[in-house]
Amino acid sequence: MKLSRRRLLAGFSSGLVASQLPALSLAKSQDGFFDLIAAPSKQRLYLPDAPTSDLWTYNGSAPGPEIRVKKGERIQVRFTNELEEPTSVHWHGIRIDNAMDGVSGLTQKPVEPGGSFVYDFVAPDAGTFWYHAHNKSWNQVARGLYGPLIIDETEPAFERSNDITLVLDDWRLAGEGVLDVASLGSMMEWAHGGRLGNWLTVNGQSRRVTDLVRGQTYRLRLINAANARIFEIDPNRFGATLLGYDGQSFAGPVKFDYAPLMLGPAQRVDLMVVAESDFTIEEVSGDRPYPMAGFSVSDAETTKAPRSAIKLQPNVLPEPDLANARRIRLEMTGGAMGGMIDITYKGKKLKGDDIRTTRQAWAFNGVANLAEEPFFEARQGESILIETVNRTAWVHAMHVHGHHFQILNRSGSVVDEEKPWRDTFLIGQDQTTEIAFVADNPGRWLFHCHMLEHAAAGMNTWFKVV
Ligand code: C2O
Ligand code: CU
Repeated sequence: MKLSRRRLLAGFSSGLVASQLPALSLAKSQDGFFDLIAAPSKQRLYLPDAPTSDLWTYNGSAPGPEIRVKKGERIQVRFTNELEEPTSVHWHGIRIDNAMDGVSGLTQKPVEPGGSFVYDFVAPDAGTFWYHAHNKSWNQVARGLYGPLIIDETEPAFERSNDITLVLDDWRLAGEGVLDVASLGSMMEWAHGGRLGNWLTVNGQSRRVTDLVRGQTYRLRLINAANARIFEIDPNRFGATLLGYDGQSFAGPVKFDYAPLMLGPAQRVDLMVVAESDFTIEEVSGDRPYPMAGFSVSDAETTKAPRSAIKLQPNVLPEPDLANARRIRLEMTGGAMGGMIDITYKGKKLKGDDIRTTRQAWAFNGVANLAEEPFFEARQGESILIETVNRTAWVHAMHVHGHHFQILNRSGSVVDEEKPWRDTFLIGQDQTTEIAFVADNPGRWLFHCHMLEHAAAGMNTWFKVV
C-alpha cells in the first residue's frame, strides 16, 4: 500500500497527503434544526506551511457542512448571519417552496448582519444538490459561502462509506494563501469569462488523497462550486460511469462517450467507480492534466461482502408536453469581444462609459438585468420551451430555479437521447439550445447565468408561475 501511494503521488507536484474519509454530515440540534452560521473564518487552502486564508464560510469551513437527509424528509435550517453584510441561502436544484428559495430581493429580504432566518422545506428529489449564498453571490460564493446538500434515496443505493461528495472550487490567490479580494469586483472579468481562480481545491483542500477499498463500488458526487470555471473531466481515464446529472439520477450507469465531460458552474455529476487500482481525477482542459483528487486503493482489513447490483431510483418529474408547449425566446448579447452594444438598463440605452458605472455588460433580449417585471408568466402546469441563443463570444451556464428541464436541441452538438433532467446547461458561443419543462411550481423563479459575474453584470431575469 505504501508503494502504491507513492506512485500515485508522483503525479502531484508536491508530496502532500491529505487522506480523508467522507465528510461527516451536520447533526441536527435537539429540537430538530440544522444550525447554520455564516461568518468570517480562516482556512488553509494552500500548502501546509503557507498562511491560512481569510474566508467567509458556513459553520467555519468551505465547503460548509454537508446537510444530508432522506428524500421527502423535512429540512429546517436555523440560519444566522454573522457577516458584516446581508446575505441569504439558496438551495440549488431543489424543487422547493418558492418562499424558501433564498433569493435576496426576489423571494425574501436579505438577512441583515446579526439577523436570522428559518428555512423550512421538503426536498422532493433524492440526489446531489448544494447550497450557497444568493446575495452578491459573485463575492460571497467566491469567498467560500457554499456547501453540499445530499438527499439520500429512500433505500440508499450505496452504503454511506461508499458515497463520497467532492466539492470542486477554484480560488483566486494573490500570494501564498492570500485571497485576492481585489479581483472579485473586476469589471474586466465581469465582461469576460468571469473570475477564474488560480488555485483548485476539492472539499477545501488541495491534492487530497482518499483511501478506497479494493473491489468496492463507490459513488462520487462532484459539485462545481466555482464562480465561473468549467471543470473538464474525463471519466473514462479512471473507468468511471455516469449515474446522473444535477441531482437527478439515470435509470442505471451510463458510459460517457463524448469526453471530456464539461462540468459548468453549479452543475453536478454523479460517477460510479469500482476501486481496482489507484487513480486520480484530473482537470484536463490545460496542456497538462491537473491532478485534483487522488484515490489510493488498498485491500480491506476485514472482508465485507460486496454489495449486489446498484439500484438507482430516478425521481419522477413531470414530462413537458412538447406539442403544446409555449415557446419563449431568449437572446444573449453583450460582453467583451465586440458585444457591448445595444444594452438597455433600467429603461435607458447604455453608451460607452455607462457600462463602467452601471457595471451592466450583458443583456437578455437587449435588456440588462431584466428584473423589474417577470420575463414571462406561466400558468401552473403549463409546458414551457425556452430557446436560448448565445450571440456573445463566451460560454454561459444557464440555471433555472425551482424546476428541472430537459435539453431538446443544441445546435452543433449532440444531445442525450434519454433527455436527462438538468437544472443548469452550458451554452457555447453562437449556439442555440432548447430546453423544456413543466412550470409546475408557483412563485417567482430566477433564470440566470451561473457564471456569477455574468449574472451580476446583467445576465439575470426571472419568471412567474401562477
Ligand atoms: Cu445556484 Cu441562482 O443559483
Ligand atoms: Cu454567463
